[in-house]
Amino acid sequence: MNNVIEAYRQAASASLDTAESLPFESYHQPDVYQLEADRIFSNDWVFVCAEQELANPGDYYALSLAGEAIAIIRGEDGQLRVMSNNCRHRGTPLLDEGFGKLQKNIVCPYHAWTYNDQGELKGVPFPGNTPVDKASHCLPRFHIESWLGLVFVNLADNPRSLAERLGHIGDYTAIFEPETFDRCSQPDTDNWQANWKLVMENGMESYHLFKVHKQTLETITPTKTSFYVTGSAEWTLTAGEIKGYSGSLMKWLMGSYPEAWNHYMLISVPPSMIAILDKESLSWLCVLPQGPDETRVRSGYLSSKSSGKESKSSKSFTQAFFAEDKVICERVQRGMSSRKGKGGKLVEMERIIVDFHQFLASRLFGSDTDNPFSSEHTHLFKK
Ligand code: FES
Ligand SMILES: [Fe+2]
Repeated sequence: MNNVIEAYRQAASASLDTAESLPFESYHQPDVYQLEADRIFSNDWVFVCAEQELANPGDYYALSLAGEAIAIIRGEDGQLRVMSNNCRHRGTPLLDEGFGKLQKNIVCPYHAWTYNDQGELKGVPFPGNTPVDKASHCLPRFHIESWLGLVFVNLADNPRSLAERLGHIGDYTAIFEPETFDRCSQPDTDNWQANWKLVMENGMESYHLFKVHKQTLETITPTKTSFYVTGSAEWTLTAGEIKGYSGSLMKWLMGSYPEAWNHYMLISVPPSMIAILDKESLSWLCVLPQGPDETRVRSGYLSSKSSGKESKSSKSFTQAFFAEDKVICERVQRGMSSRKGKGGKLVEMERIIVDFHQFLASRLFGSDTDNPFSSEHTHLFKK
């Protein structure tokens, strides 16, 4: 094992009392990136988009996940499927990357082998006297499941179910009634010049709000009111107060759970999902590595039709604090190229980052992880 990877293993395996930030090289070294692609993004449930982005038959999303070209397609039968996006003839990528709508079939741009929306080979032009067994030339399928209207895919052969992966997380999200959110915003997509782990760490911790987001998030969700709820290497929930949440007293008097009316909950499900849940919406962040120092960051939100969310002002507010996050993440990435620099202590408010590091250590190195931890606030959110 090379030195960087061994230092990465040791740092990621630490518990809160000894935890420090990861070795800088782990944020840009190609060997580390390849290991993460192989053992995490090719082998775990990865959040990729919102279900409503693929609402209609024929809607597709083609992307590269850990170097694998895949296409998520809503079939004519209404089912979402994920399949290889490489032609079974000579491997040409079939659909262009991004979102689109099928013109009935998938036609390879090279020799026009043609597949239906389920990946079954339907046509082979000019085969001559060569028999091509269509049934054995279908596009390979992968696993796909949804949670809270969000789509996860898994490239592993026989993964455990998403429900098993998520365990009892739903016991804590239920009081916000996220299943009632049926409206999907137009998501934003951007590429940040930063390693995916920096983007995840930044997205999950509330420690930086008072400094990086002084004029934006801090005015509504101050750092000092944030707290850890419960979590482990698998997923973590933190929460905080929402200042000036209108109607909270009224709702409380009507018998709803008070915490749901004046708190947000932050959900971290590594490797790619961070979401902020409150009583009106679920704002999601999807983090997909594009290379050791480049990450595709997509954000959007789901809300209930009645909440009137996605006003222009909430959209520009979100864009304002994402711009702040992009600047700080790209700045930290530049710091990671230092050869003499060394990461320091993670403070109590960064326990969620320690959970994330333990996730990395468990997936990459099979390291033992700490037992799930619950704070004294946990009961407030349990239904
Ligand atoms: S590579 Fe697709 S038809 Fe030839
Ligand atoms: Fe931030």
